[in-house]
This record gives sequence, structure tokens and C-alpha cells, in this order.
Amino acid sequence: MKGVILAGGLATRLRPLTLVTNKHLLPIYNKPMIFYPLEAMAKAGITEVLVVTGPNHAGSFLNLLKNGDEFGLKLSYEIQPEAGGIAQGIALAENFADQEKLLVILGDNIFFYNLQNAAESFTKKTRGAKVFAVAMPTESGHYGVVEIDEQNRVLSIEEKPPKPKSNLAQTGIYMYDNRVFDFIKELKPSQRGELEVTDLNNFYVKEGTLECEILNWWVDAGTSFDELLRANNLVAEKVKNGEIV
Ligand code: G1P
Repeated sequence: MKGVILAGGLATRLRPLTLVTNKHLLPIYNKPMIFYPLEAMAKAGITEVLVVTGPNHAGSFLNLLKNGDEFGLKLSYEIQPEAGGIAQGIALAENFADQEKLLVILGDNIFFYNLQNAAESFTKKTRGAKVFAVAMPTESGHYGVVEIDEQNRVLSIEEKPPKPKSNLAQTGIYMYDNRVFDFIKELKPSQRGELEVTDLNNFYVKEGTLECEILNWWVDAGTSFDELLRANNLVAEKVKNGEIV
């Protein structure tokens, strides 16, 4: 399994913090934001990771992360020329994936759950995809909302619905088989002009092969100033309690 970290976009919700830098380089307590998903990749046992970012600050990512040695990873880089959505970013990993399965993590997702077991069992599957969800107030309209059955199979996913069918927010952690690239080619841009990860995941929902695992703790630090602050405070607390380094 190979890894993809999506670190593009304009982060207009965090302006003026993001006027002259990329959101994923902003601090979360004692580290740049993108360190957290990179460390999650390494913990999951992934060794090759593609970092996808926009053209404006790509040099800063190279300066900061270099070849990935510091993380025990082999890093490659790809440019996403426009902010065309998560699925468009994943499409750029087609050559890199080279028929292997993918673990995709959004560059602003902060969590400490070890994905190693999930990655190992997903690698053994013949086909399908997996999403990770967290119980939270989904009426906020900030997240995709996942509805599941007793076996944790996904019944529906809706992108930021006005009337959420559950309290499970779709996180930015996804696992895909290598048919993902064929499905992305069938996607049409949404109303916000992006190729949506939720539309992509719905291909797997339709064939009944999308699984969901529930996490206890996860923050999308890029959603708002409040979530950025919450991520900083939660990580600071965990570092001071000695839960993480
Ligand atoms: C994206 C996805 C959404 C998901 C969220 C998690 O939203 O579209 O389904 O819940 O990431 O971070 P965006 O941040 O692009 O608005």
C-alpha cells in the first residue's frame, strides 16, 4: 500500500493566515500541520508517500520535508495546478500508485489513531474502499455525513447535507483499491467546482464495498479558526500529559 497526502487548496477559510503560505505549513502546537499526517503514514507502516500540493508554495514543502528521511518515508511530490478538489488530487497519484492500494490522508487532519491494523487488513482485500468517521455535531454543515449499518457497511454518504442522517462525520482518511482512478474519471465537478471525495466514495457505496471504521478523536484543523485553535490546544494537552511526543 502506498500513501498520498493532499496539501493543496487555497484555504480561503483561514485568510489572512494563508495569504502568503500554505495552510498545511501552519503550526499545530510544536510542529507544522503536515507532520501529523506524515507521522500517521509512517506509523501505519507505509513507506512511499506522495505529497500533492499547489504550485505557489511547493518549494517550502521541499525545504521542510526534503526526501522524507526524517520521517522514515520516501517522499515524492506532485503539483495540483488548481484547487479542483480531493478526488482531483487523488487522480494525480495514478502513476505513483502503480496498481497498489492507496491510503489517502488530508494534510490538515490531526489524529493519533494507529492505522497499521486497518492498512494490513485492507491490503488483503480483493476490492473496495474504506472511510473513517467520528461522532460529532454534523449539523454544522462542515463535513460529509456517513450512515452505516450494524456491520459498519456504509449505507449512504452525503456531502455537507442540510439534514444529516447521522452524527458521523467523514474524516479525511480514506483507503482505496486501484479502481479508484477509473471512478474518478467518471466524476463531474460539484456546485463548488470540485471533484468531490464524497461522489467518489459513492461509487463504492453503490456496489456495497465501502467499509467504515469509527475513530474516537480527530480534528480537521483547516475548517475554521476555531478548529485550528482546538487542534492546537488538544495537541498541547496531549504533549504535556506525555501521551505523545
Ligand atoms: C472534505 C470532504 C468532507 C469531509 C472533510 C473532512 O471537506 O469533502 O466530506 O468531511 O473534508 O475534513 P472540505 O474540507 O473539502 O470542505
